[in-house]
Amino acid sequence: MARINQLLDHRDYVAYQETIDQLEKNREFCKHGFDHGISVARIAYAYILEQDGHALSKEIVYAAAFLHDIGRWVEYQSGEDHAEASAKLALPILETCKFNREEITIILKGIREHRQHCADGLSVLGNALALADNWARDCRHCRTQKQCYKYNQAMRLITY
Ligand SMILES: [Fe+2]
Ligand SMILES: [Fe+2]
Repeated sequence: MARINQLLDHRDYVAYQETIDQLEKNREFCKHGFDHGISVARIAYAYILEQDGHALSKEIVYAAAFLHDIGRWVEYQSGEDHAEASAKLALPILETCKFNREEITIILKGIREHRQHCADGLSVLGNALALADNWARDCRHCRTQKQCYKYNQAMRLITY
């Protein structure tokens, strides 16, 4: 997991996370800090192992999970969709951390797809990230259920 640890120490990754933490300080809904990234990483990887065996390496899945929301601050500031913004910001970080072309293509596609829940034709990674993004949340005990656009009764249930 050397490249993942390098990614987590990457100056840009750290700066984006700090900006997000700052902008979400008073956010009532789910936040998008390190704990969200690691939860999505572990759930998405377990799901991929279960569904598709060893279709993707752990480093590919973890890199995508840690980077899938790094463009949140861009969305807060400009309104640009954060899936697209995250993919753009992720590219130079992945290059620095020595992911190869093929790996980067898979990771960026997964990041771009992570909001397309239940859409047809998603990649293995995009589908796993979209599912893990919901499963990583504790909706049952959330105080802002009623105001959340994502919330429904099914979100209370443990399905994975
Ligand atoms: Fe997201
Ligand atoms: Fe997310």
